[in-house]
Amino acid sequence: MKTLNEVWRDHNAQFETVLAAAFEAGACEPQARLFEAMSYSLTAGGKRLRPFLVTLFCEACGGRAEDALPAKLAIEMIHTYSLIHDDLPAMDDDDYRRGRLTNHKVYGEAMAILAGDGLLTDAFRILSESSLPADRAMACVRILSTNAGPWGMVGGQVLDMDAETRECTETEVRAIQSRKTGCLIRAACQMGVVCGGGSEAQLEAAGNYADHLGLAFQIRDDVLDVVGDAGKLGKAVGVDAAKNTFVKLYGLDRARGLIAEETELAVAALSAFPDGHLLADLAAQLATRDL
Ligand code: IPE
Ligand code: IPE
Ligand code: MG
Ligand code: MG
Ligand code: MG
Repeated sequence: MKTLNEVWRDHNAQFETVLAAAFEAGACEPQARLFEAMSYSLTAGGKRLRPFLVTLFCEACGGRAEDALPAKLAIEMIHTYSLIHDDLPAMDDDDYRRGRLTNHKVYGEAMAILAGDGLLTDAFRILSESSLPADRAMACVRILSTNAGPWGMVGGQVLDMDAETRECTETEVRAIQSRKTGCLIRAACQMGVVCGGGSEAQLEAAGNYADHLGLAFQIRDDVLDVVGDAGKLGKAVGVDAAKNTFVKLYGLDRARGLIAEETELAVAALSAFPDGHLLADLAAQLATRDL
């Protein structure tokens, strides 16, 4: 039986070719430079965690991998747009992402904003062209739009920004992190269940897994901002010192303890899936990831 890392590596190798081809046709358009800027960030590497979650949940529900493809592409496009905008001077003002100069450093701020807009909007075109039955395709649109927009990731980015100038309580930090990071992870997990034809109970369990995994994932991101290696991460470290994070609230040790607690809760939510061992391994591996 393949290990988690073998499955993940094979998954990413196939998915990279999909990403590389996504905007090839745009090269013939007068706005070719926009497509180039979109592809620049989309093909820069990255863990491809969210598409991998879509696949794992689709397969855990007995679905076929190809049924998950539009949802995988759509979530990675939206995640990439969120990173392009997150790095802008008006937001986190970062110069490196995924081992490359950030989008605005190469294409300028205006084009980086538009490349993000392009990725966000086109994600829904791709989702609308899915060959899934209409009710499942519509459920994916609802899940992705709810979690990506003002009720989800965008809302979380606003809370994150607002919190920079003051101290936050634990409840407030949880509210920020569950939205800015947890929501896209939730969308990935729940779209996987929908693509695989899972039950309502599995949809809810995937949401629970995602909520705990998402929190653990962002706390690990904040730990790595302090102890991580910029070369390995492909982005600068020490840049979020002013942010309200669990590391700032409780220090590194307690933050690591919280990651372990949230990871355990994520794994516990998997009992709704007859074979969730890869998802359990994934949660455990992400808890101590260094990239
Ligand atoms: C970075 O996400 C932003 C956060 C939500 C913490 P990832 O760590 O998944 O970034 P990539 O996709 O691997 O570059
Ligand atoms: C990311 O939070 C949340 C997003 C929606 C992009 P961070 O600002 O901590 O992510 P990194 O550290 O820049 O990847
Ligand atoms: Mg940020
Ligand atoms: Mg950032
Ligand atoms: Mg960070």
